[in-house]
Amino acid sequence: MEAWLGLMSGTSMDGIDAVLVSFRDRTVQIHASRCLSYPDDLRQRLINASQNQASPDEIGELNTLTGQLFAQAALRAISDSGLNPNTIRAIGSHGQTIRHQPAGSAPFSFQIGNPAIITETTGITTVGDFRSRDMAAGGQGAPLVPAFHKAFFGSESENRCILNLGGIANITWLPARGQGPVTGFDTGPANALMDAWCLDQTGRPYDADGHWAVEGRVDPELLEDMLSDAYFQRTPPKSTGKEKFNLGWVKTMIARHPDLKPEDIQRTLLELTALTIARQMPETGVDTVYACGGGTRNPELMRALGQALAPARLAVTSELGLDPQWVEPVAFAWLAKQAIEGKPGNLPEVTGANGPRILGAIYPA
Ligand SMILES: Nc1ncnc2c1ncn2[C@@H]1O[C@H](COP(=O)(O)OP(=O)(O)O)[C@@H](O)[C@H]1O
Ligand SMILES: [Mg+2]
Repeated sequence: MEAWLGLMSGTSMDGIDAVLVSFRDRTVQIHASRCLSYPDDLRQRLINASQNQASPDEIGELNTLTGQLFAQAALRAISDSGLNPNTIRAIGSHGQTIRHQPAGSAPFSFQIGNPAIITETTGITTVGDFRSRDMAAGGQGAPLVPAFHKAFFGSESENRCILNLGGIANITWLPARGQGPVTGFDTGPANALMDAWCLDQTGRPYDADGHWAVEGRVDPELLEDMLSDAYFQRTPPKSTGKEKFNLGWVKTMIARHPDLKPEDIQRTLLELTALTIARQMPETGVDTVYACGGGTRNPELMRALGQALAPARLAVTSELGLDPQWVEPVAFAWLAKQAIEGKPGNLPEVTGANGPRILGAIYPA
C-alpha cells in the first residue's frame, strides 16, 4: 500500500493541517490526521508579513520557521499513523501563503515553508510550490482543489457544488455525468472578515460557533454597500485573498455607517459570506452543495448559508466520505501524487491557464 502526506495551511493562518492517506479508485483512506496550531507570536508575524510589513530578513526567517513547523506536523502525522515511513511516496506541502497577487503585469503567488527542510527532516520526497507553474501559464494559480473535487466527488446523478469555507470561500461546480464544464473560483470571504473583525473587537481569533454574531442584527444598508464591491460582480476565472478582504476593507465599509454596534457588523459580515456564495452559484440546477473547511463548524454560518442556497440542499463532505476538515490537505496529498506520476494538477477552465500543467517543485529525498 502506497501512502501520501498532505500539508496545508490556508489564509486563516490558524495552523497546519496534516493528513496521511492512501487513494484507491475514488476513495480516500485516512491513516492519520491532525492540526498543529501556529504559536501566537508566529501567527502574528505571518499576518504582518501578509500585510506587507516584513523585511527580506523577516521573510527569510519565517520561511525557515514555518518549514520547520510543517516538518513537525508531518512527523507527528506519521507517528500517529504507525505506518512505516518507507510506504510514504511523497509529501505535498501547500505552504503558507503570505501574498497572492494574480492580477497586473507581474502576477505572483507567494507561499513560504521551505520544502527542503521538510524533505531533510522527514527523509521523504516533498512537492511544494504548486501555484507558480499555473501562473506562469497565464492562470490565477488558484483555486487548485477543483481538480481533486472533480476526480473524487463528481456524480452520475446529482449536480454538485463543493464549497470550501476557509478564510476565503471557493466553489467547484460539478455537473452530473460530467455534462458541461467544471468551473471553480473564489467567491470572496468565508471567515476572513469575521475573523478579522472579531480579533479587532474582542481579541479572540474567531467567533466561536457564531455566538457573538447572533447577538447582533443584519444592517441592510451596510450589507448593500458591501455587496457592491466589484469583486463579487466579476466573472471568473478569479481568485482573491487577505490582501483584499481584511480588517482595512471592513473599516472602509463601516466608515459610512458610524452608528452600528460591533455585533451588528459581525452579523452583517456573516450574512455577506452567505449571500456572496449563494449569488455566485450557477443560477439553476444545483442539487446539493457540499461544504468543507473550518466554516462548517460555525452553526450560524451554516444556517445562513442553508437559507441563502435554498432550494439547493446544503450538506457537508462527510456525506461523500471525507471529513470537512481534511478535504484541502487531502487535495494536496493528491496533487503531490499527480506531480510524482507526471500528471497535470490544474484545471485550465478553472484557473484560466493556457493548458493542463504538471504542478509543483520536487525536492527528492
Ligand atoms: N467552532 C467554530 N466556530 C466558528 N468558526 C470556526 C469554528 N472552528 C473553526 N472556525 C473557523 O474556521 C477557520 C479555519 O478554517 P480553515 O478551513 O482551517 O481555513 P484556512 O484554510 O483559511 O486555514 C477559523 O479561522 C475560524 O474562522
Ligand atoms: Mg486552516
